Amino acid sequence: MNINNLIKTLTIEEKIGQLLQIAPFFFIQELEKEVSGNITDLGLTASKIFKAGSVLGIGNATEMIQVQKRYLEKSRHKIPLIFMADIIHGYQTIFPIPLALSTSWNPSLFHTMAKVSALEASTAGIHVTFAPMVDITRDPRWGRVVEGLGEDPYLNRIMTAQMVKGFQGDDLKKVGHLASCVKHFAAYGAVEAGRDYNTVDMSRTRLFNEYMQGYHAAIQAGARMIMTSFNVVDGVPATVNKHLLRTVLRETWKFDGVTISDYDSLHQIIEHGVAENDSEAAILGIKAGLDIEMASICYVNYLKTHIESGKVDMALLDEAVYRVLKLKDDLGLFEDPYKGASTLREQALVRCEDHLQKAKEAALESAVLLTNDGILPLSKNKKIGIIGPYAKTKQTNGPWSWHGRNDLNQTLEDSLKHLGVDILYVSDQKVESYTDEEINVLKQMDLLILALGENERESGEAHNRSDIKLPRHQEEYVSFAKRIMKPSIVVLYHGRPLDLTNILSANAILDAYFLGSMANQAIAELLTGIHNPSGKLTMTYPKSIGQVPLYYNHLNTGRPKVKGIDNEFTGYYLDIDNEPLFPFGHGLSYASFFYGQMRLDRHDLHFHETLKIEVDVTNTSEIDGHEIVQLYMRDLAASISRPVKELKGFQKHWIKSKETITYSFQLTPDDLGFSDEQGHLIIEPGRFQIMVGKDSEHVQSEIIRLHEEVKS
Ligand code: NOJ
Repeated sequence: MNINNLIKTLTIEEKIGQLLQIAPFFFIQELEKEVSGNITDLGLTASKIFKAGSVLGIGNATEMIQVQKRYLEKSRHKIPLIFMADIIHGYQTIFPIPLALSTSWNPSLFHTMAKVSALEASTAGIHVTFAPMVDITRDPRWGRVVEGLGEDPYLNRIMTAQMVKGFQGDDLKKVGHLASCVKHFAAYGAVEAGRDYNTVDMSRTRLFNEYMQGYHAAIQAGARMIMTSFNVVDGVPATVNKHLLRTVLRETWKFDGVTISDYDSLHQIIEHGVAENDSEAAILGIKAGLDIEMASICYVNYLKTHIESGKVDMALLDEAVYRVLKLKDDLGLFEDPYKGASTLREQALVRCEDHLQKAKEAALESAVLLTNDGILPLSKNKKIGIIGPYAKTKQTNGPWSWHGRNDLNQTLEDSLKHLGVDILYVSDQKVESYTDEEINVLKQMDLLILALGENERESGEAHNRSDIKLPRHQEEYVSFAKRIMKPSIVVLYHGRPLDLTNILSANAILDAYFLGSMANQAIAELLTGIHNPSGKLTMTYPKSIGQVPLYYNHLNTGRPKVKGIDNEFTGYYLDIDNEPLFPFGHGLSYASFFYGQMRLDRHDLHFHETLKIEVDVTNTSEIDGHEIVQLYMRDLAASISRPVKELKGFQKHWIKSKETITYSFQLTPDDLGFSDEQGHLIIEPGRFQIMVGKDSEHVQSEIIRLHEEVKS
């Protein structure tokens, strides 16, 4: 397809139309599908609608075919619509929420999740997914931590790349692959006070060293689109931020894909106070390098006048249209506008056995055993009761799974019974409503499983909390179990780190997040020890909301509080210590692992050399299991202050009972560097602390020196 020639045949209105994204019901009024926000009152005319370039969200193949057909019949130029949707952690086979999946520290699971999601979503004729969401998340109040990959830039980068590759496959033209739209550019994860859509303000050094890494990794992995964020960066809304969209994206990162606003975010720059009206917003958007506007009508209503009056150069419009049409061409839509959409493919692929099995395998690696006094794995022939608000829950898909069906999921009771566990009592009543008779029944049990947490609507977009304790007095279940002297195992369904301080007296806590379509089957296999838990936290769990933001890779400050040393004029609280409840990287196994002494092949490292680090880990228990070993480093003196620890590598190996495995890592001088304010790598010689351990707190360390000159 010669895109430049095609552009020449388009009227100015048709060109502008390519930059408009609206919901499917505009094309077929009966298709009133729910999308986030109200898009019904945009006041668009039929003439504008049938020039639009893309569609936000679609339910299934029949709907997609109907919309595309209607559009092609009515539009003059017959350029197919491109269909985009939020396929975040599954289409109908739902995988664990991204935060949970990240606790697997298994990048290949992200690849699998994305590949399966793309295959299923393609059956509905979806061409682009608004994923991955790579915003660094360090504030558990923010509801959107559920969609993110945690607080660490390195882990984020690795998992992001796998997701993009999984969605896009080797050739976008082939049926079954989706173009990936990474989001939300930039720094959306740093919204003040964890309140969605709030202001972001940070130094450029921090921006590049921490927050930019995921977006860049996605682009390096080939992501074809990028979505702007709702927040400001340097005071300018990201959607019209020229520095972000032109200098960083186009000039520095050489991104040649499509940029898109978030939902209505071009119009919302008026609320931000940087444009008087939609007309001004249109100018700012196109000049900044924003290609598609999602669910607002600034371009479609005002760009033409601005181009005709000479305020906006036609070349800016043409370059944006070129990128959109190029994507359509690369996706093969000119050859087949209905690409992939097929009810037969839907029947064969959606929620098929193979996909469900893969979702279960992912779920098995995505739960974190936070505490365990030895009560788990469950021993045989115990009489067990399941109580708590989620005792009967099938709502395990979690936020951003709008094609998924919770009603097809199993309850924990069914899953455990299927494994032969004696579940004798199940109740989701409140503690205070138990009758004496019910209490007597519970007293007959050998132990209680407490199904606690948050519901699906308590995290996700716009679902922030100022208090991160278990909602609705659920801590009472733990005290109740104590009161009737029954051992208790907490199974936590939730979307964000919680303050679990008041439930530590439970005998075990299994952090199960929202594990998707096969959640309860996986939880049952973990509780019974058919599978050994191996997940490790990717967000720090605080002891109190007052400690937030709390993350392991912080700067040291000039007056750091040293644990155990009483020094008034240091950074601490009068009423709580600085330590987290559970640190980044924490997670238990039913096996026990012994770490040998770490070995470095050198303590003097020269540029162009590689440092090798090894540690032997022995499974000293009778149970086989995975162990994730983490490599951290600290730059002890640099031209800017560097974090007290930065993850630089990790490995997850299966270690059989009594076996020893050597974990080997490599670091090059590049790995020891950092970004300057423009995002360029700086490598400075000097001393570095190299650390290896089972989590971010329990590490052994050695010092090395990086020398500038090449060894002769
Ligand atoms: C708003 C959300 O911020 C974004 O992540 C999502 O992709 C769009 N809505 C479209 O649903």
